[in-house]
Amino acid sequence: MKTPIILTNFKTYESATGAKAVELAKAHESAAQQTGKNFAVAVQTADIYRVSQAVDIPVFAQHCDDAVYGSHTGWNMAETLKQAGAIGTILNHSEHRFVDYQSLEKAITRAKEAGLLTCVCAETAQEGAKISKSFSPDFVAVEPPELIGGDISVSTSRPELISDSVAMISPAAVLVGAGVKNGKDVQIATKLGAKGVLLASGVTKASDPKSVLIDLASGA
Ligand code: G3P
Repeated sequence: MKTPIILTNFKTYESATGAKAVELAKAHESAAQQTGKNFAVAVQTADIYRVSQAVDIPVFAQHCDDAVYGSHTGWNMAETLKQAGAIGTILNHSEHRFVDYQSLEKAITRAKEAGLLTCVCAETAQEGAKISKSFSPDFVAVEPPELIGGDISVSTSRPELISDSVAMISPAAVLVGAGVKNGKDVQIATKLGAKGVLLASGVTKASDPKSVLIDLASGA
């Protein structure tokens, strides 16, 4: 996957659910076409198929379980996500953490077996380094939980976290997130060595998401 990447996590925002998820994903596709930058979206499981059918940008799942084919009810199996059109999955987001690293490892393994890219979240640079060393995901996304959904970005308030993460987690690709809202935030992150950003509310709560996306692209 080409980097730097701007990956928007749609979470369960109403503005990013169902038909609106398609609309918002199309705004990303249009921003990608207009700017030539790499946008991707992480949508709810039930929206993967409709979104991936509607746009030509990478679609991620927001979570993947360690389920296998067979007698297992209600789980998000990696192969199903892949067949629905996801090219990758976020794992271990701070809003959906695995109960322990053993469960995380199983889910990463399953995702890889199904051919999904893995973007594993960590709350600190240290945790990111541990995850990277132990499980070799494609991306490690470092997000300080206290800044998620807020107005202060990781780029402006914790730039040292970005450089520490890059130093500790490389050569794995590091994404950073929490409070990222504009091109300046993206520029700081990428200048410090991050391969992109993971963000949500800056786009999902925007009155004009497309203009925010164009601004984000200016820093990539
Ligand atoms: O997964 C992205 C995320 O947790 C950051 O959210 O709203 O701070 O951009 P937000």
